[in-house]
Amino acid sequence: MILIGSNAQGLAMYTILITGANRGLGLGFVRHYAEQGMTIIATCREPDKATELQALAEQFSHIAIEALDICDYAAVIRLSEKYADYCIDILINNAGILVSVNTAYDAETWLKSLETNAVAPMILTQAFLPQVKRSAIHKVVFISSSYGSIELATAEGSIYYRSAKAALNMAVRRFALDYTYLEITAVCLCPGWVRTDMGGVNAELSVDDSIAAMVTTIAGLESEHHGQFLNQYGDFVPW
Ligand SMILES: NC(=O)c1ccc[n+]([C@@H]2O[C@H](COP(=O)([O-])OP(=O)(O)OC[C@H]3O[C@@H](n4cnc5c(N)ncnc54)[C@H](OP(=O)(O)O)[C@@H]3O)[C@@H](O)[C@H]2O)c1
Repeated sequence: MILIGSNAQGLAMYTILITGANRGLGLGFVRHYAEQGMTIIATCREPDKATELQALAEQFSHIAIEALDICDYAAVIRLSEKYADYCIDILINNAGILVSVNTAYDAETWLKSLETNAVAPMILTQAFLPQVKRSAIHKVVFISSSYGSIELATAEGSIYYRSAKAALNMAVRRFALDYTYLEITAVCLCPGWVRTDMGGVNAELSVDDSIAAMVTTIAGLESEHHGQFLNQYGDFVPW
């Protein structure tokens, strides 16, 4: 199925690429947009184990599941080539990791956090830019975290994660300067503290509540939001 030229003719025509789509917020995005009738390219590392995602794909025929480790850059290019003729209206860079420091800093673990949370989303976005530019919607969402805010970093812990999301924020800020809002609309978006494997059971928000807020924010992105850092409700987060 080749989809070219999806535009403001109706929500059902949107095509959305989501990374880390097998669980947590990624799966929540897939469920929401599938129920809206949108076409979804749902990527995850191990489709064979993604039972909830597979069940959604059986329910909604317009979900394509693709195997992708976002740090496998050759695989990113291959996937972009597979979808070369597509028009991607919304690209959601959702996949991320939170790893903890034990007793001392470990370079390999820290670099993996930086790679997964900051480098890989930018490389993937670069690979899919032609498909996004083809869209009149052309939104690129980078799921960040208020933990990446330097101004808000007053608590201890999570140095690998905080530094990686701060790097992502700077990369997105810089990337956005290359485009006007009318070419590519790029934002960093914090989902809030959400009850996922990453957020834990004590988090404030359910996946559904966070997704409901984020999809409203994504739908309402205006020129003032381009290159900015927003929370799930669309409020500006201090850098
Ligand atoms: N939950 C929160 O409170 C919270 C708060 C602020 C920001 N965030 C951000 O929200 C996003 C989603 O988080 P979540 O809470 O849904 O976390 P999660 O439940 O831990 O899910 C993380 C997802 O990222 C995927 N992933 C990790 N590394 C990957 C890689 N190299 N290639 C492809 N996929 C990879 C995981 O796939 P596997 O199943 O294969 O590991 C999983 O699908 C992340 O960017 C996170 O930093 C979350």
